[in-house]
Amino acid sequence: MSFTRRAFCAGLAGVPLARAAWAQEEAPRLTARAATVQLAPEGYPATEVWSYDGQIPGPQIRAPQGSRLSRRLVNALEVPTTVHWHGIRIDNAMDGVAGLTQDAVPPGGRFDYAFDLPDAGTFWYHAHTNSMEQVARGLSGALIVEESTPPDVDRDEVLMLDDWLLDPETGRFAGDFESPMMRSHAGRMGNLTGINGRYDFSLTAQQNERLRLRLINSANARIFVLRLEGMTGWTVALDGMPLARPEPVTAEIVLAPAQRVDLIVDVTAEQGAPAALLSHAEDDSWQALAEVTVTGRNSRAARGAPAPLPPNPRMEVPGVTGAQVRAMRMEGGAMRGMASGRFEGQDMDFQQLVQRGQFWALAGQVGRGDAPFARYARGETARIRLANDTAFPHAMHLHGMHFRKVLANGRQGPMHDTLLIMPQDSAEIAFVADNPGKWLLHCHMLGHAASGMTNWIEVA
Ligand code: C2O
Ligand code: CU
Repeated sequence: MSFTRRAFCAGLAGVPLARAAWAQEEAPRLTARAATVQLAPEGYPATEVWSYDGQIPGPQIRAPQGSRLSRRLVNALEVPTTVHWHGIRIDNAMDGVAGLTQDAVPPGGRFDYAFDLPDAGTFWYHAHTNSMEQVARGLSGALIVEESTPPDVDRDEVLMLDDWLLDPETGRFAGDFESPMMRSHAGRMGNLTGINGRYDFSLTAQQNERLRLRLINSANARIFVLRLEGMTGWTVALDGMPLARPEPVTAEIVLAPAQRVDLIVDVTAEQGAPAALLSHAEDDSWQALAEVTVTGRNSRAARGAPAPLPPNPRMEVPGVTGAQVRAMRMEGGAMRGMASGRFEGQDMDFQQLVQRGQFWALAGQVGRGDAPFARYARGETARIRLANDTAFPHAMHLHGMHFRKVLANGRQGPMHDTLLIMPQDSAEIAFVADNPGKWLLHCHMLGHAASGMTNWIEVA
């Protein structure tokens, strides 16, 4: 099953996404509903998706830092759903985790989300009820929180990277969302990649133009490995949080599911020369995920390295050295398996777990149990050692708070809300547990999360 990539016709490129209307008094609606969208190349059938407001991806939400965002979720699907606002240091009641922070919204129901936006940056929103299937079917969108003083760029572009597993004959989503094969291996990998709902996404730009590219990986399981062609770039933020110092992009950019990276890039290619965001494909080739058509030359002189973005509040993680380290072993899956795990209050061996469609454990716990992995007093510094004892990479996401990686020499890495941990590797994360509530800690390969790799912490 594969799609032929068609040459893109230049005229449609570079249409900026409209700014979402902003209303203080009456919550604008976000309607989860079925829609038919042309995801596959023209000539192939269209796809029945589950969408927000009939679009793939959902509408781009933009709001200023420090403001309050409100949306009324209207559920016009035939299944219950909720919305999670990924990466927002949010009020726990608004976190959107069905069964933990709210009840799922039934078909025909609605839920009013309203919360403050303390941090500027690139975030996203997605379904968090049966998210393995709901996100794969299209329920996600970008959430951009704007700095009061934006950086000196000519344009700001949001690029939602995704992949879809489609049957080219029917256009329908292919395969079984519960597939044990996918759950126990790398997850649901698509056969068609794209950006902003387009397999042939492209931009036009001028030479010397400076763009802010906000990359969001909304795929279920795919780790994008990216390169810039015809552009010079700097990484200015990860998972929405500014780096203290922009870092030149000299190597490949690895973007795990749910991660974001903000780049500031200068278009260096001359008119007609190739420029693109390239993605590493399964067959080892580099494919243009976003083609950039250079149409002319900007009169501005080259600008040199960009200034750092203004920091967000509470980015420091003090008291790390004194904090107790709690170990979270990640185990299970194909190839390695595990001896046993605790599922729905019972200890089971791997065979019993597999019979229940469960393949993974975090600290011996298979799926979200009744008791949290850890309880923290509000304001306490938390430190967790995540050890990947499986044969697969995992993208570990903490809700409600950002964390930093604790580096070998006691220094701290940049802030993240989602961290990729390679097989047989481990990472120690630290954060200030300053946001009260019940927060998930799970793998963002959503098939893994659905088959055991979900745990949680509580901040009292
Ligand atoms: Cu973006 Cu619990 O996830
Ligand atoms: Cu995983």
